[in-house]
Amino acid sequence: PRSIFFSRHGESQFNVEGKIGGDSLLSPRGQQYANTLPALITDNIGDAPLTVWTSTLQRTIQTASQLPYNKLTWKSLDELDAGVCDGMTYDEIEAAYPEDFANRDDDKFNYRYRGGESYRDVVVRLEPVIMELERQGNILIIGHQAILRCLYAYFHDLPQADLPYIKIPLHTVIKLTPKAYGCDEERFALPI
Ligand code: F6P
Repeated sequence: PRSIFFSRHGESQFNVEGKIGGDSLLSPRGQQYANTLPALITDNIGDAPLTVWTSTLQRTIQTASQLPYNKLTWKSLDELDAGVCDGMTYDEIEAAYPEDFANRDDDKFNYRYRGGESYRDVVVRLEPVIMELERQGNILIIGHQAILRCLYAYFHDLPQADLPYIKIPLHTVIKLTPKAYGCDEERFALPI
């Protein structure tokens, strides 16, 4: 059976600073994850074919750079666009846009950042990615927190209201193996 592997990019400089969005490079820890990831994936997949999909953002491309497989970048896999809040910390957002901050808390799935996107928008833009995923063999997606929440919710058929709260930790590979109904899941956390 084919499997779909999900991983967030390694820890980025913005993750360290608590800033959302942006296009920062990996932190030293994130770089260590990128160094360790190939062995984990190769041990798991053996010589079965695998294709790696990344977003167009540097932190995913950098995380995938040492993987010895064919790679494809998708603009549709870029992180949820936080619009005017891109590059801010949550504290800065709360201070600058208190009403927005409260609205997001009330309905995180539908809340759309000013000049940016909602989770609902992301689900729509991921439709072509999901169609292609359904047709493919083994795929490893090196993605972003919000994006992987949407894909994960699709494969496990989770409700929209829960989707924005799904835990997708850093430095962890999630392996989904679709069955007739639903998916088997395994997780591999790297101690980095
Ligand atoms: O902090 C990392 C990050 O990927 C941000 O770029 C993004 O806005 C955020 O996580 C999404 O998580 P949440 O919807 O919980 O704010």
